[in-house]
Amino acid sequence: MLVNATEMLLKARDGHYAVGQFNINNLEWTKSVLLTAQEMNSPVILGVSEGAGKYMTGFKTVAAMVKAMDESLGITVPVALHLDHGTYEGAKACIEAGFTSIMFDGSHYPIDENVAKTTELVALAHENGLSIEAEVGSIGGEEDGVIGAGEVADPAECAKITALGIDFLAAGIGNIHGKYPANWKGLDFEALDKIHAATDNIPLVLHGGTGIPADMIKKAISLGVSKINVNTECQLSFAAATREYIEAGKDQQGKGFDPRKLLAPGAEAIKATVREKIELFGSANKA
Ligand code: 13P
Repeated sequence: MLVNATEMLLKARDGHYAVGQFNINNLEWTKSVLLTAQEMNSPVILGVSEGAGKYMTGFKTVAAMVKAMDESLGITVPVALHLDHGTYEGAKACIEAGFTSIMFDGSHYPIDENVAKTTELVALAHENGLSIEAEVGSIGGEEDGVIGAGEVADPAECAKITALGIDFLAAGIGNIHGKYPANWKGLDFEALDKIHAATDNIPLVLHGGTGIPADMIKKAISLGVSKINVNTECQLSFAAATREYIEAGKDQQGKGFDPRKLLAPGAEAIKATVREKIELFGSANKA
């Protein structure tokens, strides 16, 4: 059931769990995430970066695929189709294409420009029934060409953006996209606590969900995080399972080269990762 992400995240906030955003890259990814969410009776958010949107030939293709797949698979759990780290233009294109949720990442603009662009997109998103996420303080690392320095967000700026009527807020707290380096200092819970106190209990978003230890995830949820984004971890699982299949020579046995067989172990590996995260985030049986 395609919906925006507002209600599922308010329920998560009040129920002290988080909804996973799993980024999708193609049909297999989408199918694996949807089937797992349904199997676990969990709400879910499908994240689409601008790069992934382009790869799949455009946001219109993505929206049509997700809508049709949701129907064909008989998915009854709430599913949001969400633009991840959108530009101003990308956010507008997704509203038009039929997404149900957008993130506008204006974190690299001076705060006044971030405020102005976010204000305009809040009005446009809400007029069309979409939920909207904004960002303050960049997430470290690189995702699909979006590079962030990894600043910790300023609670006063977080309050300013929240007051614009956004539905959920991504605030940098030392989190990084991709794998965490060995010398990573961990999440800044003091900053998270201050941001939570300054932002009127708005559902908070934790980006860079790959590789964050379970105890930190649980603590973040207890401090107001209601949405956790996972991308790289599914990619790593998919790649490892595919490598194993090929290294075992299975693509050369019988019709093992059939793409439906070749991609099956990777698709199963994505399911296992999504299952593990849904359990950790506590969103199973919350649909
Ligand atoms: P990871 O790739 O580190 O899981 O981060 C995902 C993310 O935050 C998407 O916006």
